[in-house]
Amino acid sequence: MESWIRVLMFAACLFPVLVECRVRHYKFNVVMKNSSRLCSTKPIVTVNGRFPGPTLTAREGDTVLVKVVNHVKYNVSIHWHGIRQLRTGWADGPAYITQCPIQPGQNYIYNFTITGQRGTLLWHAHILWLRATVHGAIVILPKRGVPYPFPKPDKEAVVILAEYWKADTELVINQAQKSGLAPNVSDAHTINGKPGPVPNCSAQDAFKLDVEAGKSYMLRIINAALNEELFFKIAGHKLTVVEVDATYVKPFKTDTIVIAPGQTINVLVTADKSSGKYLMAASPFMDSPIAVDNVTATATLHYSGTLSSSATTLTNPPPQNATSISDNFTNSLRSLNSKKFPAKVPLTVDHALLITVGLGINPCPSCKAGNGSRVVASMNNVTFIMPTTALLQAHYFNIKGVFTTDFPSNPPFAFNYTSTTPPKNLGTTSGTKLYRLPYNSTVQLVLQDTGIIAPENHPIHLHGFNFFAVGRGLGNFNPKKDPKKFNLVDPVERNTIGVPSGGWTAIRFRADNPGVWFMHCHLEVHTTWGLKMAFLVDNGKGPNESVLPPPSDLPKC
Ligand code: C2O
Repeated sequence: MESWIRVLMFAACLFPVLVECRVRHYKFNVVMKNSSRLCSTKPIVTVNGRFPGPTLTAREGDTVLVKVVNHVKYNVSIHWHGIRQLRTGWADGPAYITQCPIQPGQNYIYNFTITGQRGTLLWHAHILWLRATVHGAIVILPKRGVPYPFPKPDKEAVVILAEYWKADTELVINQAQKSGLAPNVSDAHTINGKPGPVPNCSAQDAFKLDVEAGKSYMLRIINAALNEELFFKIAGHKLTVVEVDATYVKPFKTDTIVIAPGQTINVLVTADKSSGKYLMAASPFMDSPIAVDNVTATATLHYSGTLSSSATTLTNPPPQNATSISDNFTNSLRSLNSKKFPAKVPLTVDHALLITVGLGINPCPSCKAGNGSRVVASMNNVTFIMPTTALLQAHYFNIKGVFTTDFPSNPPFAFNYTSTTPPKNLGTTSGTKLYRLPYNSTVQLVLQDTGIIAPENHPIHLHGFNFFAVGRGLGNFNPKKDPKKFNLVDPVERNTIGVPSGGWTAIRFRADNPGVWFMHCHLEVHTTWGLKMAFLVDNGKGPNESVLPPPSDLPKC
């Protein structure tokens, strides 16, 4: 943008009543904090000493400036998960992808404008495993005077689900990487930072949501856990789903929602009882033979006038492997697709990719516990190697040798991907491979789970875009039959989608955002193991179709 336009816009923003345009300033101090309320007293990395961190509130159309100051010993970067970052990849946040990390003692101002989005998202650290405790909500209100497309709730509340380890999470993953084996699962789940009464945990604190009989509430539910998809339900109360990943959906009622790490879901709840206390429960969903933390986190919905000593109405969490509950929920999601909020599904496809997602085994002579091998993960059999220069910088300044653009559009060899008899060779190749897309091209990705080691539900997150989930199935994707069943009318629009265990998901998007955009499994252990790649989207020819110049305080590697 021309600098005089920026000055003009800034001046206009000083009078927010006159024009629909505002600048919001936030300061995020990354500091250590004792966590005595939780299952241990070890210090944790936090933003402003809070767990979960502060909520970032803005309106659609606002410009947000967040000054992040790093006071801890780790390198830090923050990602605004789901914010489209049109042309402002410099503010996206994944370390070594769009920026070098903010080093100890340094700071960086994330500067982005929220365009065409409203709803709930989350922010989180995007380096190492710091996201375990460095996360919080992003609440994007509609533009002033624009109503929700559903009855306005009397009140709103943020509900952040997370995982908690007694041990230092950086030690947990470092030890696992040395051994070649999977890291320890968490010790507890939390709801707004509190586990509720759980075994082997000194803290028995539970989050309490105070409600009044007859009033309606919108819960902005976020899964900020590192490695686990979760079920969430409230005893005796139905949830009406109205929005996911900051896009409106056709409202539907359910007892239970399923939410993967990185996903957000807004639900309406009516306090339709006269009094009482009702249990809220967050419990893991895992439908393959993989260890999870099976401790249920609990909170209460507390009607005003109810004694805190009165008994809580309980609810049973779904069985851990309740695939059918998860499928029912997922299959109920449809874009609102109204006149005001149309679903702009790409009807033609310029780039069709089939990408396997799954695990592998590579040699690791120093991995004693792993008997000389280590578990890795890959997309199309490429285990992604993190560069030491940020990819967006390498792209923008034309620095050679940082990445290649030969990410394969198909698996290197075809096999029965979801069979339980694995192929002979479980090894992967490695590289920093990107897939290059012309500006405004339309893309279809079929994400295909593999059964190597075990089939597993992978929540795949794409930076820089929303996509439409046009199809989903079990087994191997059939390119002849399956596309005939695609929903191109009102598929749900998201930024993070679960690939079903032993199945596939098809998504479509338009590459209308130039830059370098990360795509990875949002189970942090799989990201660490290499289940990631990036798209390089070229600049377009028009005036507003190029990556903006980097800010002057962009961190250096
Ligand atoms: Cu929420 Cu790349 O992550």
